This record gives sequence, structure tokens and C-alpha cells, in this order.
Amino acid sequence: MIIILAIESSCDETSAAVCVDGKILSNFIANQTVHEKYGGVVPELASRAHMQHIVPVIDSALKTAGCELSAVDAIAFTQSPGLIGSLLVGGQFAKSLALALDKPLIAVHHMQAHVLANLIDDPKPSFPFLCLTVSGGHTQIVRCESPTNMKVIGETIDDAAGEAFDKSAKLLGLPYPGGPLIDKYAKEGNPNRFKFPEPQIAGLDFSFSGLKTSILYFLQNAGKSNQYKEEFLATEEERKQFIENNLPDICASIQHRIVTILLNKLKKASIETGISDICIAGGVSANSGLRKGIEEMGKKYHWNTFIPAFQYCTDNAGMIAITGYYKFLAGQFAELSVNSSARAEW
Ligand code: KG4
Ligand code: ZN
Repeated sequence: MIIILAIESSCDETSAAVCVDGKILSNFIANQTVHEKYGGVVPELASRAHMQHIVPVIDSALKTAGCELSAVDAIAFTQSPGLIGSLLVGGQFAKSLALALDKPLIAVHHMQAHVLANLIDDPKPSFPFLCLTVSGGHTQIVRCESPTNMKVIGETIDDAAGEAFDKSAKLLGLPYPGGPLIDKYAKEGNPNRFKFPEPQIAGLDFSFSGLKTSILYFLQNAGKSNQYKEEFLATEEERKQFIENNLPDICASIQHRIVTILLNKLKKASIETGISDICIAGGVSANSGLRKGIEEMGKKYHWNTFIPAFQYCTDNAGMIAITGYYKFLAGQFAELSVNSSARAEW
């Protein structure tokens, strides 16, 4: 029996999980509400909140799994990428535990863990599979050969998909993080009412900054055009009124464009690689438009599609635990001198 205790603290969620022989027995997540009023994550406040949450979260994960700390075989933690102050809290805690318990340490790449969240529940994808990893900081298409061998074959050249959702939401006056709110309003809206441009980017890469600019102009013009046109500029009052009267249709149209940008590249990746086991992962995979879209594409192109359970889509330690389990099997352990890193190589 192999028992992994995992810690995730890369951004603003403090999470701990216990994995026994590849099964996740507990996955505790403490969300940080302190950032809401600032319209984004404040790194210093995130580190402090991790310090407050880490002991109770680990304690809860162990208790729920019915597992004694002394029974743990290895400690896995998110080593990179993320906010450095946040990573350090989880990293230092993991190292201290490994030292005190005299158990091996496993350093996990946060984005690789998002991909492997697809191996938590059945049915699981077969290797090789493709994974569209979409979060607040990343947008990537990953080709996964095995749990310990994967490669990025396409990625964003500017904003991430989650950022595109959050920045659009901010322009609409919605609080951070706006992605889930756009999703909510989009459910009652018409996705074809407003047209936003699809960027023409070579290969399997993505770009979302042009979309953001066109949404900015669209709102400045109160919907009359999504290009900069002085004659269409609306007053503050007219813009507010326009948003208020059309919020569901605006959200549905923005979401429709972000989702089609993502799915069109995924389709291209599947054709180019000949791979038809297709997964999605990361916070944006919680988006109902994307979930529906990938299922529809799956039926149309005979893909086997996989989406992690909701609790394993946004940041969580369950995905760190499953990655830790496979690294344990492969004998990939870290030294106690390993450093946390804001940026990461693949
Ligand atoms: O993976 P994640 O939890 O954290 C990062 O590693 O970034 O992703 C967070 C991102 C945020 O941008 C958030 O707005 C977005 O995921 N998100 C959503 C939805 N739920 C979370 N975006 C669109 N629709 C959703 N339902
Ligand atoms: Zn993440």
C-alpha cells in the first residue's frame, strides 16, 4: 500500500489530500476570500492566509482519510509554477514534514498535475492523450505519453483563457474572479447575438488579447461596434445601461468566442497528432459552455472525452496527490534542498 500526503498552495487555495494506491480518499480545499475586494489575488495576503490554513487543512485531510501521519509513505507538494510566497509556505511545510517523519519528498509541477487530474476517477484516458489545460495563468495543449512524460504542443502567446474570462468580467463591472459569473449569466443569454473576432494565430498557439481589446471597444461604444470609432463612443451612463439591459447576451457571446477559440485549436491538435483521447483540465474546465462544447465535438469527431470531477478542476491537492503517486512509482523523489520556483520548465 502506498500512501501519499499532498499539499497545494500555488495561488489562493490552500489544499491537502490523501491518496492510497492511486485513489483519492480526501481532498480538502480552503478558499481565500480576502482578495475579493481587491479585484485579484494579493500575493502577500495569499501567503499569510496559507500560513493560517495549512495546519487545519492537512489535519482535516488526514482525519477524513482515516490516516495517521506516521502511516504516510511520501509527502508531495506543488513546487512550481505559482506565486512564490504562496509556493514557499506549502513547500517549506512539506520539507519540514518529510524531515520530521523521515519520509521521501516529491516535487510536483502544478500544470502537469492539472493534466493528471484526469487519472483520478474512472473512466481514464488511454496514453497517449491530449489535454487542454485552461486556468487563470495558463492555456496549453499538452501531449501526454505517460504520467511522467508530457509535452506542451501549443500555448497562449499572451493572456490565459481564465484571464480572458476574468478581464472581460472586470470590464462588465463584475467582481473577481469573474469567470464563474460569466458562465452563470451566459446560461440565460444568446451566444450568437454579438460577434467577437477569432484571432488568426499560427499552429496550435492561442491569443486572447485581441478579444479583450474588442470587448473594451464594444462596451465603450455601448454595443454599436467592437472597433475604436469616435462617433460611437457612449457616455458612462449609456454604457452602464447597455450592460444592464444585455448582460446575459453579452456574457453568452463572450463565452461562446472563448470556447470556440479553445475548441478549434483542440480539433486541429487532434487532427495533427491523430490522437482521439481528449481531456480538459484547470479552473476554466469548470465552465459549462466548454464542458458542453467538448462533449459535442467528441460526438462529432468520435473522440473519447474526459473532464475531471468539479473538485479536481480548480486548484486542489487531489491532483498533486495523484501526480505524487505516479512519481513515487517511477522513483522520482526530490532532495530536501529543492527550491520552490515561480516559473517552471517542463
Ligand atoms: O486552475 P485555477 O483554479 O487556478 C489557476 O491555477 O489559475 O483557475 C482559475 C481560473 C480563474 O480565471 C477563474 O475565473 C476560472 O478559472 N474559472 C472559470 C470558471 N470557474 C473558474 N472560468 C469560466 N467559467 C467557470 N465556470
Ligand atoms: Zn491551477
